[in-house]
Amino acid sequence: MAKLEVKNLHVSVEDTMILKGINLTINEGEIHALIGPNGHGKSTLLLAIMGHPSYKIEEGTIIYDGVEFNDLSVDNRSKAGVFLAMQNPLEINGVTNMDFFKGIINAHRETPIGLYEFIKDLEKNSKEVGFNLDLASRYLNEGFSGGERKRNELLQMKLLKPKLALLDEIDSGLDVDGLEMVASTISSMMDDKKLSALIVSHYVKLYEQVKPTFVHVIIDGKVALSGDYSLLEKVNKQGYGWIEKELAIKLTKAKQSRPSSAGLCLNKVIKDEENSN
Ligand SMILES: Nc1ncnc2c1ncn2[C@@H]1O[C@H](COP(=O)(O)OP(=O)(O)O)[C@@H](O)[C@H]1O
Ligand SMILES: [Mg+2]
Repeated sequence: MAKLEVKNLHVSVEDTMILKGINLTINEGEIHALIGPNGHGKSTLLLAIMGHPSYKIEEGTIIYDGVEFNDLSVDNRSKAGVFLAMQNPLEINGVTNMDFFKGIINAHRETPIGLYEFIKDLEKNSKEVGFNLDLASRYLNEGFSGGERKRNELLQMKLLKPKLALLDEIDSGLDVDGLEMVASTISSMMDDKKLSALIVSHYVKLYEQVKPTFVHVIIDGKVALSGDYSLLEKVNKQGYGWIEKELAIKLTKAKQSRPSSAGLCLNKVIKDEENSN
């Protein structure tokens, strides 16, 4: 059973402690939702699990499938079956999408994939995520719209077939059809119960469709609350203000929060946060 165990995780970025003791366990086949006001550490947690070099583990451990990740390289984490769809996918000038896809697939195989099999796989999966294949010959994400970048991330996930998907606002910038597609892609990959996922989103619509079993609210670098789907419904209706009162914690930390998608529903949260700033 491939299980992710995050224990007492403290992570700093540029000498500022962002995560302050995260505990989280994701068993095989489970979907967890990660929510919380902007700037409180959701992306930091996902990036730290994947091994982004700017996110320094100061204390605690990340263990996946029995292997300690703390000092493991990003490519070995990927080979262990973990995939991160980034909130802000990077542009890489000079590397075509096509070469990138082939490179990532081959990095996960003993022998290189044959050209015919690769093209067939790429065509099929591109179609399923509504990714325009013409974009495959362009440089990675260069000049792509927000939605195209998200579809590209999803396409990479389908090509790599990870065991644990970390999805950071994969649905932002997508229209209603795009949202449907994201939800059905995740659901179909979950079908065999082998995929686990940690999903960050501001859109309750996505959660309605993929139905996470566990929901965690991150506030000021800690999991302030965990619960089942009803927690998501409560936040959707009431925002995060009640958590502030109930747990006597401050939500106004997010002064440096970077731009993020304002969702259809959980956006009430963002407004609450802005009002209190
Ligand atoms: N690369 C970085 N450089 C500087 N500060 C960062 C960086 N990444 C995150 N932070 C800071 O860490 C905090 C948490 O950010 P983030 O994890 O992106 O929040 P969320 O995803 O919950 O909106 C914010 O204050 C943000 O400005
Ligand atoms: Mg984020």
